[in-house]
Amino acid sequence: MQSPKESLLGKFVANLLRKKNPDEFLEQSAAGGLKKSLNAFDLIILGISAIIGAGIFVMIGSAVIGTAERVGAGPALVISIILVTIACIFPALCYAEFASMIPVSGSAYIYTFATMGEFPAWMMGWVLMLEYAIGTIAVASSWTGYLIKLLEGFPFLPECIKHPPVWLINDYQTAVASNPNAHIPHFLGIPICINLPAMFIILVIAGVLFKGIQESANFAKIMVFVKVAVIALFIGVGAFYVRPENWTPFAPSGIKGILMGAFAIFYAYIGFDAISTAAEETKDPQKNLPIGLIGSLVICSIIYGLVTIVLTGMMPMGQIDLKAPIAAAMSFVGQDWFAGAIAIGALAGLTSVLLVLQFGTTRILYAMARDGFLPPVMKKVHPKFQTPWVITILSTILILIGSLFINMQVAAELAIFGTFSSFVIVCIGILILRKTEPDRPRSFTVPCCPWFPIIGVVFCSGLMIVALREVKTSAMLFPLWLVLGIIIYFMYGYQSNRKQVAMKLKHMEEVKQEKVIQNK
Ligand code: ALA
Repeated sequence: MQSPKESLLGKFVANLLRKKNPDEFLEQSAAGGLKKSLNAFDLIILGISAIIGAGIFVMIGSAVIGTAERVGAGPALVISIILVTIACIFPALCYAEFASMIPVSGSAYIYTFATMGEFPAWMMGWVLMLEYAIGTIAVASSWTGYLIKLLEGFPFLPECIKHPPVWLINDYQTAVASNPNAHIPHFLGIPICINLPAMFIILVIAGVLFKGIQESANFAKIMVFVKVAVIALFIGVGAFYVRPENWTPFAPSGIKGILMGAFAIFYAYIGFDAISTAAEETKDPQKNLPIGLIGSLVICSIIYGLVTIVLTGMMPMGQIDLKAPIAAAMSFVGQDWFAGAIAIGALAGLTSVLLVLQFGTTRILYAMARDGFLPPVMKKVHPKFQTPWVITILSTILILIGSLFINMQVAAELAIFGTFSSFVIVCIGILILRKTEPDRPRSFTVPCCPWFPIIGVVFCSGLMIVALREVKTSAMLFPLWLVLGIIIYFMYGYQSNRKQVAMKLKHMEEVKQEKVIQNK
C-alpha cells in the first residue's frame, strides 16, 4: 500500500504533468471570440515582418568580421546562413505540424501543454517571453539607433534633435559605453537614462495592437514592402560593384568562424515561429499555417544569402561597418544618397519586427491567462475590437519598465536563448505527440519522423551550447529567469490551476446529475 506521503507526492507530480487534451484548446478557442481574418499571404507577411530586422540591417557586420569576443565567418557567412536555415527548417516543420493540429493562439506554450504537461507548459510560456517581450527591448533599442542616423541626414534640424543627450536615447550601460564623460542626471543617487524613441515606438505599436489584428496586418504589409524594397535595391545596385577578389580568403577563421557566424546571424531568424501565435485568427489554418511558416523562412533565407554575397563582394572584409553595414557599403562605393534610404528601410524593418514581437507577447500571455496561470482579468477580450486589451496594456507597461534596465546586447542574447529552448522543446513535443496522439488529424506531417525532429534538437542544442560558452552576462541571466519563472508558478499558477481543475470537475458533475434527472 502507498503511504500518505507517497500518494501526496504522486498527486503533486501528476498535477505538474497534467496534460491538456488538444480538443480542450480547440473548444476554448472557438468560445474565445478572436476574429478569423488572416490568409496564407497575411501569414507570410507576418513572418517576413518578424524575421527581417536588426539581424540583417545591423548584426550581419559582426557576423562577417567578428567582435572582440568571437571570430567572424568572413564571406563564408553564406555557409553560416545555410547552416542556420537548416537548423530552423526542422523546428519550422514541427511548428507547422503542431499548428495544423492545434490551430490556437499561444504557439509552443500550447504544444507543450498538450504533450508534456502543466509545469513544462508554464516554463515554455515563460521562456517565450524572453524571445518576444525581452526581444522587443533589443529591437526597440536598434530602432533608436537608426532613427538618430536618419535625423543626422537632415541639415536643417536643430543640433539637439540630431544629437540628443545620451541619457535620452540609451540605457545606462550603453550611455556610459558610448560616452564615458557624458553628463547623466541623477535622482536620489540613481542615474536616469531613458531611451525615449524606443519607448515611443513600443507605445505606438501597442496602440495599433489594441485596435485589432486586421489593422495590424495592413500596417505590417506597408512596413514589409518598404524594407524588402530597400533590400532589393541594395542587392540590385550593389551587385554592379561586386569584385570577386573580395571573396578571398573565403573563410578566414575556418569552421570556427562559420559556426560563430551562424550564432551571430541566428538573431536574424528569430521570429518566424510568431506565425503560429496567430493560428486562432487564421482562416483555414490547417492549410495556411504550414505555407506561412515554411514560405517566410525560405524567402528570408534567400534574401539573407543574396545580401551576404553582395555585401562581402562589394568591399574588403576589414572595411565592413559594424553599426550600419549595408548603408556604409553603399557609401564605400560612392552611393551616399543610399544611406538615408537604408535608414528608412531599416526603421520600417525594425518597426514590423516590433509589431510581431509585441503581438506574440500578448497572444501567448492571453493563452496562459485563459489556462489560469495568470489572474482572470488578463483574459478579457475587448467587446468592440476583439483584442486581448488588458494583457496588451499590462505587457506594454512591463516591457517599458524592462527597457529602462536591460541592455540591448543582453536582451538580444536572452531572446536567442529563449528561441533555441522553444525550438528544442517543440521538436521533442512532435516526437511525443506521434506516440500519444498518432491518429489525431493533421493536414501537415513532418516528413522522415523521428529523424527530422531529432536533427532539429541536435542542431539547436548544439548552437545553444556554443552560444553559452561565448556570452557571459546572458549565460548567467538565463538560469535566473528560469528560477524566477519557477517561483511565480508555485506562488500563483499551481494553486490557480488546482482551483480551475476543481471547478471544471464540479461543472462536469453537475451536468451529469442534470442528465440523470432529465432521464428519470
Ligand atoms: N529576426 C529579428 C531581427 O532580425 C528579431 O530583428
